[in-house]
Amino acid sequence: MYNVEIVGTGSFVPENRVSNEDISKFVDTSDEWISERTGIKERRISTKENTADLAAMAARSALDDAGISPEELDLIIVATVTPEHFTPSTACLVQAKLGAYKATCFDISAACSGFIFGLTIAEQFIKTGLFKTALVIGAEVLSKIVDWNDRSTCVIFADGAGAAVLKRGVQGIISEVTGSDGNGAESIACHAVPLKNKFCDFSKDKANYLSMNGREIFKFAVKIIPECIEKVLEDSGYSIDQVKHIIPHQANIRILDAAAKKLQINKERFYVNIQRYGNTSGASIALALDEMSKGGLLRNGDLIILVGFGAGLTYGAMMLKWTKDRNNNEEENNDAHNG
Ligand code: UT7
Repeated sequence: MYNVEIVGTGSFVPENRVSNEDISKFVDTSDEWISERTGIKERRISTKENTADLAAMAARSALDDAGISPEELDLIIVATVTPEHFTPSTACLVQAKLGAYKATCFDISAACSGFIFGLTIAEQFIKTGLFKTALVIGAEVLSKIVDWNDRSTCVIFADGAGAAVLKRGVQGIISEVTGSDGNGAESIACHAVPLKNKFCDFSKDKANYLSMNGREIFKFAVKIIPECIEKVLEDSGYSIDQVKHIIPHQANIRILDAAAKKLQINKERFYVNIQRYGNTSGASIALALDEMSKGGLLRNGDLIILVGFGAGLTYGAMMLKWTKDRNNNEEENNDAHNG
């Protein structure tokens, strides 16, 4: 088995900033309610780009960061719940935009856990030796499935994309956990096409908008975040004190405060950028990872945990050792193959 590491990250958000005040002009809400109940101050809402456009911009930035050309990619996975089409996949659209003609491309639907699921899938392909280089993108234009008259969701969800390039190399990915609970499928959902054809018509007049039982998801998140973190710690043999950063899905600042309390850790250990971007579902962890990397917050050798939860219900976590900036540590490069 080969070791797998992240060698580049990227992100892209639409230019259009929408403040809480802007939203309070068309639904009955306020900056005070949104800030206190969620931590969000503003978000980006696309006026030009669709999902593949955001994904491709994030991808280019990640490839530049990694110093890898699109032709080297063996695999492109896009994690999204807001694709352009039922088919073709957003990943195929991204492939064409990048000119990554060697790559196998497909989308996955795991909502806010999508980036972790995508990393885990890409890791398996590289571990076994089938592929050497993969691009995993989390990209969403949630603004197109949000009901802009529903104040319980339209204040939360937003648009953006983040990406990571994975390569065969030293041991960057240490442990991971993924899981799903389909019994919670209706807690957060956006219906697509009902069964309707020449022989039957079960269509109900359901709007194709996102609906959410916020309180239920909140409780689920506060339970599952600590469980996922404890599982990746247990599998890795490290303790929580050795972990430098926890990069969570950015859903609600109060969820993170409650999870920190359960884990008996300082809440500052969770990286938070929800105030600027809102909840970008599959993009949020990737966006935060890139922001931290580009902001110089991640040091070579740092232990990091990514953790997410979302519609499905889905959940997952991944423990990484940051190795991206190891160019000056040539001795580590000799550790490329442990199998
Ligand atoms: O990405 C993963 C999936 N999503 C999540 O992780 C979301 C998890 N849940 C949450 O973040 C929170 O449940 C919300 C932010 C969605 C809602 O916060 P809450 O504290 O759970 O509020 P609530 O739904 O219990 O509603 C409390 C009150 C209600 O009014 P009444 O019935 O007490 O009079 C709502 O109608 O707040 C009202 N409300 C609002 N008021 C002003 C709901 N949305 C708004 C709003 N502005 N935007």
